[in-house]
Amino acid sequence: MRIEMIQSLVDQVKDEVVAWRRYLHKNPELSFEEVNTSQFVYDTLQSFGGLEVSKPTKTSVLARLNGAYLGPVLALRADMDALPITEENDFDFVSRFPGKMHACGHDGHTAMLLGVAQILCGLRHEIHGEVRFIFQHAEELFPGGAQELVHAGVIDGADSVIGIHLWSPLEVGKVSVMSGPMMAGPDTFHIRIHGQGGHAAEPHVNIDPILIASQVVTNLQHIVSRNVDPLEQLVLSVTQFHAGTAHNIIPETVELCGTVRSFKTELRQKVPELMERIIKGITGAHGSTYEFEYQGGYRPVINDEAVTKKVWDSLTDIFPEGTVVEGVPDMGGEDFSAYQAKVPGTFFYVGAGNLQEGITFPHHHPKFTVDETSLSIGVMSFVGIVLKQLCPTIG
Ligand code: NI
Repeated sequence: MRIEMIQSLVDQVKDEVVAWRRYLHKNPELSFEEVNTSQFVYDTLQSFGGLEVSKPTKTSVLARLNGAYLGPVLALRADMDALPITEENDFDFVSRFPGKMHACGHDGHTAMLLGVAQILCGLRHEIHGEVRFIFQHAEELFPGGAQELVHAGVIDGADSVIGIHLWSPLEVGKVSVMSGPMMAGPDTFHIRIHGQGGHAAEPHVNIDPILIASQVVTNLQHIVSRNVDPLEQLVLSVTQFHAGTAHNIIPETVELCGTVRSFKTELRQKVPELMERIIKGITGAHGSTYEFEYQGGYRPVINDEAVTKKVWDSLTDIFPEGTVVEGVPDMGGEDFSAYQAKVPGTFFYVGAGNLQEGITFPHHHPKFTVDETSLSIGVMSFVGIVLKQLCPTIG
C-alpha cells in the first residue's frame, strides 16, 4: 500500500522534475555565481506554499517544512553549481553558454529535491518533525558552499543530514548505499622549480628545470608505492606540467600542480612532508631551488553507521529486491562532508548510467548526461526516507 502511495506521489511530479532539470541544464551557472539558479529555486519553492524559504547566502536557498507534530529534524541536501566545460551533447536542452555545463548532475539533484519538497508539502499534516531542504551553491570549487552554509547555521539543530549524488558509473535502477569512509579528502599542491634558463645548445652552462621537474614527478610516485602501507588508500597525481616557450630555449621555471586524495587524517598530514623531502632533495642535488604550496581540501565523506542503516532500511522497503546495493568507496571528493562534521549523515549514489542508451560518459566530461528515469528514483528515495522516519502513520 505504502509503496503504491509513494509511487503515485512521485508519478504526479515526475514530468515537472524532468522539465526543471532540463531548464537548469540549459541555463548553467558556475560555483558562487548561481544567481538565477537560486532565484529559480526560491520562486519554485515559494509557489508550493507552506514552506519557510530563505537565502542563507547570496546564491543558496534553504526551505523548512514544519510538520504538524513535533519530532526530529531531517536535512536533505542538493547542490546546484555547474562546471567550466563546453558541452558537446546534441539534445535540445544543451547548455546555452559555452564554457559552462552541468556535467556532474547537479541540475538533476536540484530538480529532484524540488520534487521532494513539493510532494512533502502535501503531506505536512502527517509529518512529525521538520524537513529541511538545503539547496547548496558551489560544491565544485574549494572552499565550497557547504562550509559557508554550516557557518550560516543551516544545519543547526538538525538530527541528521542526507545527500544523493546521481552516478553515471552505476546503472540506472540501482542505488548504492554504504557506511563508513566513502569519498576521499581531496588536497591540492603547487610546485615551482627554478633553474637557470639559456640556450638549448649549451645545457652545461644552464640548469634545466624540465629535467629536474621530470624527476620530481616520477619520484613523487614513490610516496604511494614505497612510503605508505599498501592497505591504505592514497592517490597522488601530478596533473599540470607547464614550462617553456621555444625549441631552442631552456626555460627558467617549471610549474607543477596536482592532487592528493586520502581518507585518514594521520596519513593526510604526513603527505606534504614526504613530498617536500623529495622536492628538496632532487632540486638541491641539481643546483635548483623550489617553492611548494600544499592546500588541504574538503574533509573525506564518512557515512554514519546508524543513519546509513535507516536509509538502507527505508530504501530496501520501497524498491524491488536487487535495487539497493552495497556501495564501494571512491577517491572523489565532496563538500557534503562539511555537514557531516556537524551532524551524523549519509551520502549515497543513485545510478544514472545506461549502457544500452549510450549514457556512459564519466562525470565532468563534455558529453556527460544522466538517464532521466534516475530522477524519479532519487525523488522516491528521499520521499521514502522521510516518510519512514517522520511519518509514523503512513511510513
Ligand atoms: Ni558532483
